Amino acid sequence: MIALLAGDPAVAVALLTLRPNVWYQGPVALLDELYVAPGLRGRGLGSTLLTAAEAITRQRGGELLEINVDSDDIDARRFYERHGYTNTEPGQNQPLLYYYRELTDAPF
Ligand SMILES: CC(C)(COP(=O)(O)OP(=O)(O)OC[C@H]1O[C@@H](n2cnc3c(N)ncnc32)[C@H](O)[C@@H]1OP(=O)(O)O)[C@@H](O)C(=O)NCCC(=O)NCCS
Repeated sequence: MIALLAGDPAVAVALLTLRPNVWYQGPVALLDELYVAPGLRGRGLGSTLLTAAEAITRQRGGELLEINVDSDDIDARRFYERHGYTNTEPGQNQPLLYYYRELTDAPF
């Protein structure tokens, strides 16, 4: 896990995890968190941290950065889309869906 901070004391954070993946030569990155203090949003801090996360991923040989976003978080979706992120596979027009299951109470 990599934590990128902006400011001292920090007013913005990006958390990035890198994992091996059979489909890519290098690691695949997941942006676990991107947060800017409410009073400081809209000044480019989020963009700067996202760009830095992309640069670190590339430096480590990564070719893919993944982000999970709530479908009704329209502002965050526009932010990521403006930065080149998409939620559709090439040639498709239906959005990808994220499935998960908490395994703590699973019977098997
Ligand atoms: C999304 C977020 C990280 C962007 O950081 P930022 O420093 O405001 O981003 P920038 O200044 O580089 O860019 C501003 C863009 O973010 C969008 N944005 C998203 N949520 C916003 C918010 N709560 N307040 C202000 N701008 C927001 C703005 O609409 C703007 O996009 P636009 O230019 O297309 O209108 C920040 O708003 C935030 O911390 N939001 C709450 C946490 C969150 O939603 N994180 C992402 C979850 S996956």
